[in-house]
Amino acid sequence: MAMSLKAQAAAAALKEVKPGMKLGIGSGSTVNELIRLLAEMVKDGFEIIGVPASSYSQALCDELGVPLTTLDEAPVLDLVIDGADEIDPQLNLIKGGGAALLREKIIAAASGSMLVIADESKIVDTLGKFPLPVEVVPFGLEATRQMMQNSLDAEGLQGEMILRMAGEKPLVTDNGNYILDCHLQAISNPKSLAKRLEVIPGVVEHGLFIDMAVRAYVAGTDEIRVLEP
Ligand code: A5P
Repeated sequence: MAMSLKAQAAAAALKEVKPGMKLGIGSGSTVNELIRLLAEMVKDGFEIIGVPASSYSQALCDELGVPLTTLDEAPVLDLVIDGADEIDPQLNLIKGGGAALLREKIIAAASGSMLVIADESKIVDTLGKFPLPVEVVPFGLEATRQMMQNSLDAEGLQGEMILRMAGEKPLVTDNGNYILDCHLQAISNPKSLAKRLEVIPGVVEHGLFIDMAVRAYVAGTDEIRVLEP
């Protein structure tokens, strides 16, 4: 059977993984393909140790036999490979569609370099059509929302902030927090917005990954493009 585009992107990025590496493993459906391919390599004797960014990635690695450790045991990683919800021409990203943005960012920051894997639908000129996820502490939610609104106003951005739900209740992240999805359409200055959000006490982390990715493997129907900032 032909490989899906997501699997093709994952396979291309895996060529950068060398034996003995400590590898950050992101999360999402593209990373699931990466984990499946990595598991086959491990079965064939390839030595690697992974640190997963979400409970879901951890469960899949455990199920398929990809050896794992934690950032406490391995605080410095060689490489992280992760998906993205949007990728702009500078390789700035929106992540967090799967609510794992905080751990994904901690792992990316602990890694020597970050590779992004995606199909071509994730490429955009300007970030923001995909709602920007912001992880917030449940305490003082409405006050945090108001402070975030002030930040959006200062950036000239408009749009709703919607609390992500899991059925009837707010979705709770792996870290016990909530997600506010900011429907902004076009974020003209992601760096400036990131700075404003970062100083709000109730904001734990936002889904803007700026100047973090060194390369993106983007699979299209005709070819796999390797993008650099
Ligand atoms: C998870 O929180 C996200 O950051 C994912 O990396 C992102 O949503 C990409 O997911 P897919 O590979 O499923 O599109």
